[in-house]
Amino acid sequence: MRGCPYPLATVKNRTFVMCKPDAVERGLVGEVVARLERKGLTLVAADLRTVDRELAEKHYDEHRDKPFFGELVDFVTRSPVFPMVVEGPDENTWLLVRKLVGATKVTDAEPGTIRGDFATITTENLVHASDGHDSAAREIGLWFPDLG
Ligand code: PPS
Repeated sequence: MRGCPYPLATVKNRTFVMCKPDAVERGLVGEVVARLERKGLTLVAADLRTVDRELAEKHYDEHRDKPFFGELVDFVTRSPVFPMVVEGPDENTWLLVRKLVGATKVTDAEPGTIRGDFATITTENLVHASDGHDSAAREIGLWFPDLG
């Protein structure tokens, strides 16, 4: 795999993580990246970009029928995001990242996690992270289609 820092790495060692608009607006991108890197994970792709509604709707497609879908798309398109592909030494990378990020609901997010330390409302919970290998593959393909 091109650019891979680990021996025996596979596509499953990678996951998708995104600093959402609130994290960029609050200047927390460096904090998020530092936590991922201090854990021992490696960035293999990242950029700052503004998302159009088409990509946002595809990204959150599984939530299309939820009452908050429109609000979620409005939120993620309101200002730039910082999407990333992160790689670790084995296929647990997505799970390690989810643990670093913390629970979706901010009142459940433990101190020491990104959301537990920095988020106060669930609708502005700073970071998105893939919830398994299938969603990681889908989201990496959606956001970084040219990644080798
Ligand atoms: S669900 O209903 O359990 O499937 O939803 P969940 O997996 O907890 O959350 C999916 C994403 O939607 C965000 N979310 C919300 N946005 C706006 N309003 C409300 N009420 C709301 N509830 C959840 C939540 O932060 C998840 O976003 P990501 O970016 O995937 O973390």
